[in-house]
Formats: sequence, C-alpha cells, structure tokens
Amino acid sequence: MKKAAMAIPNRQLKQERERRCWSQLEVADQIGTTSLNVSRWERGITFPTPHFRQELCALFGKSAGELGLLQDVIVESHVLLSSANSVPHSKDTVSPPSQTPRIVEERRLVTILVADVTESTTLGETLDPEDIRALIDRYYTHARRIIANHGGTLEKFIGDAVMAVFGLPRALGEDAERAIAAALALREAVTTDPLLGKHLLLYMGVNTGEVVANSDPTGGNFLVTGDVVNLASRLQQVASPGEIVVSERTATAAGNAFLFGDQRLIEVKGKRQPLPVLPLSQARPIRIIDRPPLIGRLQDVLQLDLLRMRTLEERRPHLLSIVAPAGIGKTRLFEEFLAHLDPEEGFQVAVARCVPYGQTLTYWPLRGLLTGLLGEEIGKTQIVDAFVRGGQAPEDAARLADFVLTTLGIEQEEVADSESIFAAWRLLIETLARQAPRIVVFEDLHWASESLLDMVEHLLHARVQAALLMFVLSRPELLDRRPTWGGGQQNFTTLMLQPLTEAQTRELVKHVATGLDQALRERVVERSGGNPFFALELVRGIGERGMDEKSATTSILPDTVHAAVLARLDLLTSKERAVAQAASVVGRVFRVTTLQAVLEDLATTEIDRALDGLMTRHLVVQASGEAFTFQHALIRDVAYGTLSRSERVRMHCRIAIWLEGTAAERLDEFTELIAYHYQEAVRLSQQSAVPLELPIDLARVIYSLERAGLLVSRSGALAMLCSRAIPPLTAIAKQ
Ligand SMILES: Nc1ncnc2c1ncn2[C@@H]1O[C@H](COP(=O)(O)OP(=O)(O)O)[C@@H](O)[C@H]1O
Ligand SMILES: [Mg+2]
Repeated sequence: MKKAAMAIPNRQLKQERERRCWSQLEVADQIGTTSLNVSRWERGITFPTPHFRQELCALFGKSAGELGLLQDVIVESHVLLSSANSVPHSKDTVSPPSQTPRIVEERRLVTILVADVTESTTLGETLDPEDIRALIDRYYTHARRIIANHGGTLEKFIGDAVMAVFGLPRALGEDAERAIAAALALREAVTTDPLLGKHLLLYMGVNTGEVVANSDPTGGNFLVTGDVVNLASRLQQVASPGEIVVSERTATAAGNAFLFGDQRLIEVKGKRQPLPVLPLSQARPIRIIDRPPLIGRLQDVLQLDLLRMRTLEERRPHLLSIVAPAGIGKTRLFEEFLAHLDPEEGFQVAVARCVPYGQTLTYWPLRGLLTGLLGEEIGKTQIVDAFVRGGQAPEDAARLADFVLTTLGIEQEEVADSESIFAAWRLLIETLARQAPRIVVFEDLHWASESLLDMVEHLLHARVQAALLMFVLSRPELLDRRPTWGGGQQNFTTLMLQPLTEAQTRELVKHVATGLDQALRERVVERSGGNPFFALELVRGIGERGMDEKSATTSILPDTVHAAVLARLDLLTSKERAVAQAASVVGRVFRVTTLQAVLEDLATTEIDRALDGLMTRHLVVQASGEAFTFQHALIRDVAYGTLSRSERVRMHCRIAIWLEGTAAERLDEFTELIAYHYQEAVRLSQQSAVPLELPIDLARVIYSLERAGLLVSRSGALAMLCSRAIPPLTAIAKQ
C-alpha cells in the first residue's frame, strides 16, 4: 500500500509467527521453503501442501485449523480462480499436483492490472490497526472474487497492491477488455461497499504487453516479470484516487469497448521518452464491432460463385459489374467471395483500385493491377518475360512491354496511339489468363478517368479461351457516364446490389449494438435505409459519444450520415483532427511521410500518435507498411469538407511541391499526381469571389500541368481527357 502505512491482512498463521517474533524468512528456513511462500500462505493466496502443512503444525505446535490454513473463504476464492480459467494448481495448494499444467517458460501477450489502496483521511479520524486489517481483508475478498469472475489470475501482492494477470495461463480473448472491466468492477465494489467506500481510496493501473511467464519450481504460482509489470505498477502510482490509468497499448486493445480521457505524458524510469497514458472514462454504451458478420447477400454470393464455376468450366471470360451507391456493400460482397475461393482452383487475383482524385489520374490504378498480375517488382523485364512465355517473339514482346509501361508513365516512349496501348494490355491479361485462372477487378470504377474507362471497355472484350473472370465495382454514376456500359458484350452480367431489407438491417444493428435500447435501434434501422455503412456509422456515433440513451435519442441521430461522420470527427483531439484533414487532402490512401510534409507544426511522433488514435476510432486503417487509408471513402470526403478553401489550397500546393522534391527520380510516375494537386489548388483559388493568392510560383504550376498534359498525350488520351472530363489544364492555370 502506498502513502499511509497499513498492516497487512491477518491470518492466524501470521499471528502465531509474530507472537514468536519470527520473520517470514525464519519460518521459511525452518520448514525448508521460501519466504515468498510463507507470505502467500499468510495472505491466503496459496495454501501449503500437506507436507508443509504438517511442518507448520509441528513448528507452531498447533493444528491446521488453529493456524487458519483451511479458512472457507480462501478455499472458495481459490476454487473460483481455478475453475474460471484453469489456473495451474501450485504444489502447495490443497489440489492434487497431478493436475498442474506446467508452464515452463513462454512469451505471452498479457494485460496486467495493479490495484492499490490507501486509507482515506477525509474523515479526519485514524482507524485502529485491527480495523484497517479487517478492511484490507475485505478488499482482498472483493479483489479475488472480481478478478476470478473476469477470467484473470491473481498473481501476487506487491506490498498491499493486488496484481492480476489476464491472458495467462490461457488467453480467453479480449484480455485487455476483461482487465479494464475488472478494474471498473473493483472500483464499483469498493465505492459501494458500506465499510470500504468511506475508508479506502483505490488507485489502479492497467498495461498490456509481452511477458515471459514461467512456473515457480519452489511451489508458488507462475511468475510474471519484466517491463510490462513494472509499467503497470508505474501507471498505478500516477493514478489519482479512484482513477484507472491505462497504457496506450491497452487503450488501443480495449478501444472497442471503453472510452478514455485525454492522453497525458508520464516519466518512466529507464525510458528516455515520456510515455503517453490515458485515464479510463467509462465503458462504451455499446461495444463497437469491427466487422459484423455478413448479413443477407446469400443469393448475391451464390451468383458470384456460379460465375466462377462457369468461367472455370467453360474457359471463357466473364464479366460482372456490381453496381450500387456508396456503402451498400460492394466491396464487402466481393471480399466474401474472395474469402471463399478454393485455393485448389488456383485463381490469381489482381485489383485496380480507382481513387477519388478527380479524373486526372489517367492510368494510375493500372499500377496496382500490374503488381497483382506480375508481382511486386514491375519493370520491363517482367513484362517482356510474360509476353515471351505467352509465345511472342522477343522483339514483339519488347514493343508490347513498352506500350504497357507507357500507361504507367515509366517508359519514355514517343507518343503512342491509345488503340495500341489498349491492345497491348488486353494481350497481356489474355496471355496471363492462359497460364492460370485469373480474377481481374476494377474497384470504384466510377472514379476512373475517361481514358481508363475506354481502356477497361476494351479489356472487357477479351476473346481468349481461358478462365478469366473480370469484376467491375462501381457506383451508379458510372452508368450516367456510360449509359451503354457493357452493351452488346457476351457473358456480361450486371448485379444491381440492393439495400439490405429492413429485417436484415435490424439483424445487422442488433449484432453491432447489443447494448442499445430497442427504440434507438429501430431509429438506426429506419434512418439507414438498408445501407450497412450508414447503419454502422450511426451506431458508431452513438457508441463514441458515450451519452446516455435519452440524450442520444434527441441529439445523436442526425438526419444524414454526413452529420454522423462529422460528429465522430468532432470528438477527435486537435492533432488527430489535423492529421485526418491533411490526410484527406492527400487522398484516400496516404503515407506518414506525405503527412509530415504538410503538417510542419507536428513532430513525427505526434503524427504517429494521432494516427494510432484515428485507428482506434476506426476512421483509418493501415493499408500496408507505411500506407494508411480511410476506413471508407465517405469519411475522407467529410474530413475534406471540414477544411476551409484556403487551407485546401495551401495543402494541395504543399503536397505538390513535396512530391516534386521527393519523386525527382520517378517524376514521370508522379507527374499526374503532382498536376492533380496543382490543379485542385488553382481551381479552388479561383472559386472565391476574391481569388485566393496561390502560395506558389505560377510558372511552376503551368510547367507541371503542361508536363502532365504531354504525358497523357503520349497515350493519345489527352484529347479525350480535355474534351470530356476536365477543362484544359493550362487554361485554368493561365487564367
Ligand atoms: N451484408 C453485409 N453484412 C454486414 N456488413 C456489411 C454488409 N455489407 C456491407 N457491410 C459493411 O458495411 C460497410 C460498407 O460496406 P462496403 O462494402 O465498404 O460498401 P461499398 O463498397 O458499397 O461502398 C463495411 O464496413 C462493410 O463491412
Ligand atoms: Mg467499396
């Protein structure tokens, strides 16, 4: 116990020992065990084995009953502990040693709870030491019961502090959540206990991390030591009375179920950097479920499966367009389909993802497609090889590879006509499909440039005798742009994905919002109109607010999902918000390095921390390595919408300048991206009644835009681009 000096709980064994003025070590020496064991027996954490029981009885000249070694409450709590999670019975317990599943030495991810008490001095009265003992005893009884009920293991007492481990000897899942729930329950038990609430103050720390656990051969329970334990203890020390302080890792692990207050930094011995910690505020009104099970869509999945079977059997290309508004579940349906592919069939999947950059990034998505087809390393050699393997003469293969590379802005080929480029791409896909069954996907095709759309239409006419299954996932806008989409093609299917039915939406909401009041659930069902993304966002909004259901009914369910997303962004810390906003300017996928370039005021560690926060709140997910992406494009759109026009202009310019600097060696590859950011800056600055000053050299912008125009013209697509999609780039810049 810290602060006030208080006696440890009394057991008869302890009284007998003290009567003889023996230390725990002296007793231990006389019967041949460790002082740690004696301490445990006195505290009722473990029991002496029959052998040690006999030794103790002989030493003190008393019976086991007189020494208090069979006290009912202890037996009961111990049994609870063992049955809750098969705690290994140590050699010195009453349980038969044969049941001991020995832990030799293992690395485990665990969550540690440390809870300590002090005597409250608010009443201005000092308690009698005997009363204090009785109180602490009572506190331990609560702690044992609660920890066991939450599947934790009472590992040891540090002074008077309780240390419990969750995740050992077996991880029960959600260990961090269970540890925090136990901490909350303990706080509740102590504050509501008529005796304890008045006299004891509780301080708690919770930490998650890897420990090395090993069994104690001298007969104790298993031992857990190391940094993770020390930090948990440190967290408990910095807690104020009644506070539960958790480490960042714990907060992340338990973020779906609990809400935390503002982060603060603490000094930790042996660590150069101060560590961020968070106080627990409360359990979320409803637990957030990352990914609900798939609801409905049985026929849709079957339809996809049927096509897969036909493609394999008939060895003919098939095309399926999945069309539906944002959030209806196009991506999810496709993911379910992929998840159930039988590896034996050998399908290889390549995805071209279009991005919401506007339509200037002509062929950017093809880069992803090529990686999916040929592997991470893409260069001329790999493409030539693929064509040669498909039976092309080396010189033809080289020429075709150049056409393919032109679309990626890699090859400095002179202007090539789009027909040749399209043909080369189609040949590449057909060639590869002949070698192995292929699934080629164009995701979010509504964002594609006109030239890419032309190209995809061309690819869809594949005539090869091979198992080639092509998917297009798109919002209905695509059909506005290309009313005859897929018209006149063989083996073409369109799946207009429908909203979930009311019953299905209800089921979905029930899954993700178990704790939510029935009436509120019904409102979510009603407001979301069968759109799963909307339903999930509305539920998340309620979950994050942590408000009582009454106020939630009146103010939390906004009319639009836009407002629901906005409400979630409003809950972010200022740094998290700044990072989300900057990321929204970069695009749906962004990297830390780009964010650093835009957010000059924030240190890298601050950006990292903010990203962690955004991930905890399920606004952002890690895509791969350094790359992150918004959980849904709509979240990106809403974040972008919160920025003032001048801020957007400033950030687009910063990103463009930064890209020019860093991408110097692969400028061709990034030219369109750079041009896009400049173009947005110019366009936005012109939108104001008083045009905004551009924080860049206009000549530089014009150069960049012209360069992009040139690059695009190489593929013969400039004319199409200018006539259909965007106003002439240079014209805007020169205005
Ligand atoms: N049938 C479904 N059952 C459960 N969750 C779904 C279902 N359809 C979509 N979702 C969830 O809704 C969200 C939006 O779906 P998504 O596939 O991204 O929509 P889209 O691609 O049409 O914009 C995702 O979190 C997804 O997991
Ligand atoms: Mg999608």
